This record gives sequence, structure tokens and C-alpha cells, in this order.
Amino acid sequence: MASYVIRGARPLQGEVSISGSKNAALGIIPAAMLLDGPCRIENLPDIADVNILLEICRSIGAQVLQHPDGSVDIDPRTIETSEATHEKARSIRASYYLMGALLGRVRKATLFMPGGCDFGTRPIDQHIKGFEAMGATVGIEYGRIRLEAERLAGEHIFLDVVSVGATINLMIAAVKAEGVTVIENAAREPHIVDVANFLNTMGANVRGAGTDVIKIVGVPVLPGGCTYSVIPDQIEAGTYMLAAAATGGDVVVRNLIPKHMEPLTAKMAEIGIALEEGDDWIRVLPGGERAAANVKTMPYPGFPTDLQPQTMVLLCLCEGVSRMTENVWESRFQFVDDLKMMGANVTTASHTAIVEGPVKLTGATVTAHDLRAGAAMVLAGLAAEGTTEVCDVRIIERGYENFVGKLRALGADIARVEP
Ligand code: EPZ
Repeated sequence: MASYVIRGARPLQGEVSISGSKNAALGIIPAAMLLDGPCRIENLPDIADVNILLEICRSIGAQVLQHPDGSVDIDPRTIETSEATHEKARSIRASYYLMGALLGRVRKATLFMPGGCDFGTRPIDQHIKGFEAMGATVGIEYGRIRLEAERLAGEHIFLDVVSVGATINLMIAAVKAEGVTVIENAAREPHIVDVANFLNTMGANVRGAGTDVIKIVGVPVLPGGCTYSVIPDQIEAGTYMLAAAATGGDVVVRNLIPKHMEPLTAKMAEIGIALEEGDDWIRVLPGGERAAANVKTMPYPGFPTDLQPQTMVLLCLCEGVSRMTENVWESRFQFVDDLKMMGANVTTASHTAIVEGPVKLTGATVTAHDLRAGAAMVLAGLAAEGTTEVCDVRIIERGYENFVGKLRALGADIARVEP
């Protein structure tokens, strides 16, 4: 398994450009399978999850041509099966958006039950509730989920839980259903808006994305034939902002949407990190006192759960006692033991972590438990005295394009080593 070796305690300096949003791309690519024509998607991040999802689309017959500039030409008219059971589909959770896409396209879909990072149980009951409301029958056997609908009809669906995945999956399925679908208690993340904007660019009629009520008027044909560019990655941007703050660096994070960063910029300002903001960039400045703060993860526009581990690293370096509450996932503190090996003073109980600081982080050999926890271990290594080895980094490379290259360009002493 590949590792990163980091020699820390070097303030990051310079500029970093943010890539396309992983979680938008993972919704847009399956949505493209609905089209009755070709499309071009630009600004896709070159990360494992995107490349695997494109491979899965090829495996069901879609034409997928990737270009070196990160754009891809897709033509789903050659799809020849509703069974997306490519072995790699087991490895990425987002393949489950093909349920909505294939139901919408051919009224049938068969996939493996989804996996994904381990944050405790990750049910899909809300997806199934919505599909059944629209007329699909859903069966689960031998680890596969089979959906079929004589007729897919628009429905008024009230989600019991604010779910990004269910919101996107049901929105995709509703685009070519008969009649009007309303999704209440919908998630509002920026990547949901991006998937809706992609669908509308291709001829769909989706209104209200970004609010908690999304209305989709089904259309018989989705012509496509257009080009769409994926928004910048909110979580990648936040990761670099936190890396700059944790190392006391001076970094301009470019090609981001400041509005999407507000939950983080507000919290960083509360801690005492000096920030400057432009149209599409945020500069994190060094100096200033760093005071403890309380953080509660919530669905957007609340504080993103996907920045929770990375933020906890910064809280370790802040003066006082901070409280981190994880409200989205059942269990997302697995990385804390590794952080404590580096000198962190964190006590966890159920959904809350108490962080006492400031501590001096020191290098150790740690593991990337999941995508964002792995990124947090890198941030801790960048801040720590001495050498840190982060093992099993492939999980990080599922979601961060050119992570080592971008950090080295900021002056980090980091190298990727194969055993
Ligand atoms: C998406 O996961 C993201 N993944 C996750 O980011 C992110 O942590 C999460 O949204 C929350 O923002 C992608 O977009 C590919 P949910 P998703 O459905 O859709 C419960 C990353 O690091 N729930 O919003 O799987 C669920 O258990 C990844 O990029 C149900 O109960 O998350 C959780 O407690 C990690 N029933 C809460 O809702 C359901 O049917 C939020 O889950 C669905 C979800």
C-alpha cells in the first residue's frame, strides 16, 4: 500500500487551484446516462472515484471519451443493459445514482448494494422510499438491488432524513418520469444544485435545487447536446484553507465559490484566523491568536461533515477547550486514535469530541481510515514536528486530485512512496 512521508512544521506558502467537485461529478456522470443525445462535461477532477464511475458507465454500453484537459464526451444512446454490476461498482457508493438514472432511462436497474467509507450504517431507505412512491418495485437479493417500474410517475415525496444521495437519486429518476415530482426536506448542498443545473442544461425541468423543496416536471425527451462545467470542490477548497491555517502559512486558495465556503470561513474567523476574500479566491493569512471554538456538523448550509476531521486538527492547535459534534454520521471519529498518537488531546463520547489545546503535534506512522480522515492525517503531519507517514493513501486519492503535487507546490515536504 502506498504512503505519504511528510516532514512537518513548515508553513505553507503560495497559491493552489481547486479542481472540480468530486461530489458534483459523481452525480452528474450518472445523470448523463439519462440523455437522449451526447454531452460534454468539463472540469471533472482526475480522481479514482470519477474514473471508476466512468468505467462503470462504459461497462453498461455508454460511449465515454476522456480528454487530457479533464473533459469527457459521453453518449449514452448505446447503453445496452440495465445491470450495472461491474466489479468496481462495489467500491464506490456513488454508483448507486445509476439506480435513478437507469430507472429514468429504461425503467429498470440492477446494482450491487452500495458500500462507501465506513461511518457506521449508511442506509438507502430514503432512496427506496422515493423510488417505490414513484411506482418502482424494489427487491434485494444476493447483495444486489433490483428496481423495476411498469410506469414511473411523479410523486410528492417527503424525505424523513436530509440526505444528499437520496435527493440526487430521486431528482435524477424524476426528470423523465411522467408528471410532477416534489421532493420535500431535500438536501441543499452545492453539488445538488450543480446536478440540477446540469440536468436543466440538457433539457430537464428542475426547480428549487438548493432549497428544501425541489420540483421536477418530467419530460419525455432529454436532448442533451450541450457542454457543462462542474463547480469547484467545496471540500477540497476547505481542506487547503485548513492546511494553511494549521501550518501558520500564507496561502491563496483559487478557483472556489466563496458563498460555498461560508460555514468554514465563519468558523475560521471565530477561531481568529485572518482571511481575505475575492470573487473566486480566499487567502488564509498567518499570525494571530487561535482560540478554541465549538463546531457542529449539519447538512448545508451548516458546517460540512466532510471538513470535520480536518477541522479537528486545527482545533488541536487552538488555545482552550473546543467541542466538535458530528450530527450527520453515526460514527466519524475513527481517526482520533491516530491523531492522539501524534500528541492530540481529544476525548470522544458518542457524537461529541472534546479537544484541548494547544498541543505540539509530533510525527508518527498513521493510517488513512477514510477519505477525509486521511486528509486530516496529512494536515496533522504538515503541522507536526518531525516525520509522519500516512499509510494506505489510495483512499485519499479517491477524492483529492494531485494532492501531493499541489501540497509540494505550496512548499510542503511530502513524498508518495510505494512499499
Ligand atoms: C454524501 O454521502 C457525500 N458523498 C458524503 O461525502 C457526505 O458526507 C454526505 O453526503 C453528507 O454531506 C457523496 O456525495 C458521494 P447522505 P451520502 O445520504 O449521500 C442518513 C466525502 O467525503 N441516510 O446525505 O451517502 C445517513 O445514514 C463523502 O466526499 C439515511 O438514513 O450521505 C446519514 O446519517 C463521505 N437513509 C445522513 O442520512 C438514507 O436513505 C446523511 O447521509 C440516506 C441517508
